[in-house]
Amino acid sequence: MAHHPPEPFRIKMVEPIKLLNRHAREAAIHRANYNLFSLRADEIFIDLFTDSGTNAMSQAQWAAMLEGDEAYAGARSYFRLAEVIHDIFGFSYFLPTHQGRAAENILSACLVKPGDYIPSNTHFDTGYANIRDQGGHPVNFVIDEAHNPTSYHPFKGNMDIQKLRDFIQKTGVDQIPFGMITITNNAGGGQPVSMENLRAVSQTYKEFGIPFFIDACRFAENAYFIKLREPGYAGKSPLEISREMFALADGITMSAKKDGIVNIGGFIAMNNEALFEQARNKLLIREGFPTYGGLAGRDLDAMAVGLREALEEEYLAYRLGQTAYLAGRLRELEIPIIEPPGAHAVYVDAGQLLPHIPPEQFPGQSLSVELYLEGGIRAVEIGSLGFAHPNPQTSQTVHPKFELLRLALPRRVYTQSHLDYVAEILGKTAARSEQIPGYRLVHASKLMRQFTAQLEPIALNTHPLQSSLKLSTTKFNQNLEGYEKSTLPN
Ligand code: F0G
Repeated sequence: MAHHPPEPFRIKMVEPIKLLNRHAREAAIHRANYNLFSLRADEIFIDLFTDSGTNAMSQAQWAAMLEGDEAYAGARSYFRLAEVIHDIFGFSYFLPTHQGRAAENILSACLVKPGDYIPSNTHFDTGYANIRDQGGHPVNFVIDEAHNPTSYHPFKGNMDIQKLRDFIQKTGVDQIPFGMITITNNAGGGQPVSMENLRAVSQTYKEFGIPFFIDACRFAENAYFIKLREPGYAGKSPLEISREMFALADGITMSAKKDGIVNIGGFIAMNNEALFEQARNKLLIREGFPTYGGLAGRDLDAMAVGLREALEEEYLAYRLGQTAYLAGRLRELEIPIIEPPGAHAVYVDAGQLLPHIPPEQFPGQSLSVELYLEGGIRAVEIGSLGFAHPNPQTSQTVHPKFELLRLALPRRVYTQSHLDYVAEILGKTAARSEQIPGYRLVHASKLMRQFTAQLEPIALNTHPLQSSLKLSTTKFNQNLEGYEKSTLPN
């Protein structure tokens, strides 16, 4: 039986949540064009869309916010944050940004020229889009084990050093302005990277004179995996491990909405002074003055406290334990997941669960719609809708290796019974998997299309959703009324 660790906190404030009835859920998802990004948050019961910015802050963070200094320049909040960032990450320079992608945008705007290549284990979609926006090509060199969903390799986020070396030699360093790695590897299943691998990646980039940047969003979770799984690290604290990781890099981009345990915030940090000056100029026109970088002073304070809390061992043991619990419950129900689970999410292998839906009909998206219809749960597709892209040489569509549905766990938000409910609903959905239809795109933008895409189910004639598609205006309005009143499931 899966075991849920006791939460190392108690609940002092509550936020009510409500489950709409089935008709209201059907009306909502139809109105949203089968894209869960277009739902209203109050149409959702359990929101596992993302662990980003959805965290519950601690009393210490809320208290720190009251001390926020809102001076335009040189605020005390900035210096408090600078001290924490220097202590944990150790880089010479940093700039706050409003979130991670702003840091990525600045880095790419400074360094990427059209035709350049940026290697990583697996780029996340925002970094990917920022590189492409500058005319560059993001390339992924995660180890082969990452492509085997049942392999229990302890560090499936590792990069394949040989492939990286071969690529650098073939491409030439002039076309590689910097190299990256993502810890943990979100787009690859939330898998950690070992210290040994980080060292080898760092040495490889160094050997060729390529600056090394870490996408550090989930650095504390990665550090705790190293402590648990890598020989020689059991006796080290997550803080010591983090310092060791970042000493290997030339800089980082960071979304504090993850392991900063805040609702908004991020930063970019680096050692190179010339790059810092260039980045500061980009920041000025994009984000604001360099001591606040698009954030309020109180946000900087919440981040300073959250970055330290994310490294507390009791918290990290609970955090990884909660994810392992959900994975265990799904395993008991024989739902295929990416093994072993990462820290921030469980990834359901929708491609395997729905083998009758080909990648171009988005099995992960299908499963996300069904999970919402079944129980008001929102999860996110990490598959062809978000990650299929044209091959730069042939222009043919390259599909990602997996068609996944990610159940992300916001930090310190949901309890064991919420997770039991999620497992139960997923079990019910899986039991009728062959009735689940694929989807086709009705509208899509060129970059990051998953956010605004409009879809429709393909098997209209056989699928129960037919009824909701044929809703008359009156029926639709009645359903919306149902939504206002409803508190009952189904
Ligand atoms: N890098 C990684 C690995 C991420 O997971 C994210 C965000 C970002 C960069 C961008 O940060 O949202 O603050 O601009 N991931 C969120 C998610 C959106 O749901 O996984 P941001």
